Amino acid sequence: MSEQTTQRRATILTSLNLKGGVGKTHLCWLIAGVCQERGKRCLILDLDKQGNISTTLLGNAAAGAGTDSFFNPALEPEINRLIRRTAFEHIDCIPCDFSIERFNLTNPGEWEQTGLQLTLVDPLAEIAPFYDYILVDCPADISLITYAALCASDFLIVPLEAADWGALGTQHVRQAFDHVNRQFNSQLQLLGYVASRFKTVRKYQKNYLLELRRHFGADAFETVIADLAAFEQSVTDRIPIVLHSPSSHASTIARQFFDELEARVQKLR
Ligand SMILES: Nc1ncnc2c1ncn2[C@@H]1O[C@H](COP(=O)(O)OP(=O)(O)OP(=O)(O)O)[C@@H](O)[C@H]1O
Ligand SMILES: [Mg+2]
Repeated sequence: MSEQTTQRRATILTSLNLKGGVGKTHLCWLIAGVCQERGKRCLILDLDKQGNISTTLLGNAAAGAGTDSFFNPALEPEINRLIRRTAFEHIDCIPCDFSIERFNLTNPGEWEQTGLQLTLVDPLAEIAPFYDYILVDCPADISLITYAALCASDFLIVPLEAADWGALGTQHVRQAFDHVNRQFNSQLQLLGYVASRFKTVRKYQKNYLLELRRHFGADAFETVIADLAAFEQSVTDRIPIVLHSPSSHASTIARQFFDELEARVQKLR
């Protein structure tokens, strides 16, 4: 961990949608990449048992992650011990693996009495002064794990494919957001819905995009993340897009998205 600067306190962002494969992890990857390019310190907290971003950032070294220890009431995890440096100077990662699965509880009755949903609040507050961004990558579930992410976050960001803007998944995410906001974390704010994996060549999706704007209004990000082979290639090659192909259209989108994200954070804070 690098030295603390006096005024720094990370913006903590959770990327969540109940639907799988909509670009939750990719959004974290994209934001982290621009952080690396701009010299902003960023930590990715992987809470998905698939460990996708952990593997992208750390390869085999992601194994034996220990993220599950946050959810084990018998343990007192030391967050600093779980942070791994990556090949990118400004990107750290707390990796995840399948051992977290047993805490993927979906019935609030199983954990709300214990207060386990607050398990990430103090650990993230402890390391927040050392980062500009903490990005929490969630599984496609509403569970103890995702509640814990929301309880410890400043903002929720919801990536969605244009075709499912009105899907039940987003409604359930909204309900979880409202519940956490009311009961556990009054600081939590909705940063916005982002059309990710947008296939511009498909005419019907343009109509959906209009619907998205109509439905979510100002909560919909202006920037649309196009579905581009370059984004996929960046993940495969494990190099953030803005470093992988700095002059590409994909990189322009990544930077534009990051600028809008920062502007929204500034406005809401
Ligand atoms: N804009 C994009 N253009 C091209 N490929 C993308 C884009 N966004 C995501 N992908 C690819 O689509 C796949 C699914 O994306 P991602 O893993 O980010 O979704 P997810 O919502 O995190 O999925 P899961 O629910 O399994 O965690 C990945 O292979 C990713 O690299
Ligand atoms: Mg994912």
